[in-house]
Amino acid sequence: MSEIIGKKIIKLDEVDSTNNYATKNIEKYNWSEGTIVLARQQLKGRGQINSSWESEPNKNLLFSIVLYPQVLPAHYQFLISKVIALGVAGVAKKYTDNVFIKWPNDVYIGHKKVAGILIENSIMGMNIGWSVCGIGLNVNQRKFTGGAPNPVSLIHFSEKEIQLDDTLNMLCEEIDGWYRILLAGEIDKIDVAYADRLYRYNEKALYSDNNGTFTGTIAGVNEIGQLLIRKDTGLMATYNFKQVEYL
Ligand code: BTN
Repeated sequence: MSEIIGKKIIKLDEVDSTNNYATKNIEKYNWSEGTIVLARQQLKGRGQINSSWESEPNKNLLFSIVLYPQVLPAHYQFLISKVIALGVAGVAKKYTDNVFIKWPNDVYIGHKKVAGILIENSIMGMNIGWSVCGIGLNVNQRKFTGGAPNPVSLIHFSEKEIQLDDTLNMLCEEIDGWYRILLAGEIDKIDVAYADRLYRYNEKALYSDNNGTFTGTIAGVNEIGQLLIRKDTGLMATYNFKQVEYL
């Protein structure tokens, strides 16, 4: 049973973006921790770095979770990304194998993306005030026309239409479990599980950065969520989001 996540769910038929709705209203409504803003349809679903998020109405899960992880120093905000990605990956795992987290927080099945996560935090002094964790999980949509490079849905691994409410309940439970581990300060558990699910972890593969194409091995992420790749030259390179491309 979920103790924190999804105790209250605000259901909207249509909204520009659940993240916009939540970030705009969080201070006005004082929602309890774990409140979810869920929409059947987003008119302006947002992805990472100004991209958009495609979803056919009523087919997928589009929601934002409101958290107040005020114990967490702002420096460690990447832990929230890890917790959410682990929860979503845990649910995808109930439908199929080969579930990975592609750094920083995409959830992949094989080499295709089944879920995207967009986290927006408010910083209060040295700590996090609130965190709005937006999740788009492709569930029943079979075809994508928006130009995303490699989308996939859970339905591709299921024999029948999936009940969105059932999947949402599972997400609440999984994310709740990981979030409580975070609140208990069991950071090692989160780090180990994240590394264990990391796409291309410890595998030699091809990448490109601003110095060109290279072969390297993902060695993990550091405390602040930067990706570490050991290049074949022996050099350990550190990347922020979008500074390295997976080839
Ligand atoms: C990504 O680019 O991978 C992040 C996608 C995040 C999409 C979700 S859908 C619910 C929430 N509302 C938004 O506008 N975006 C997030």
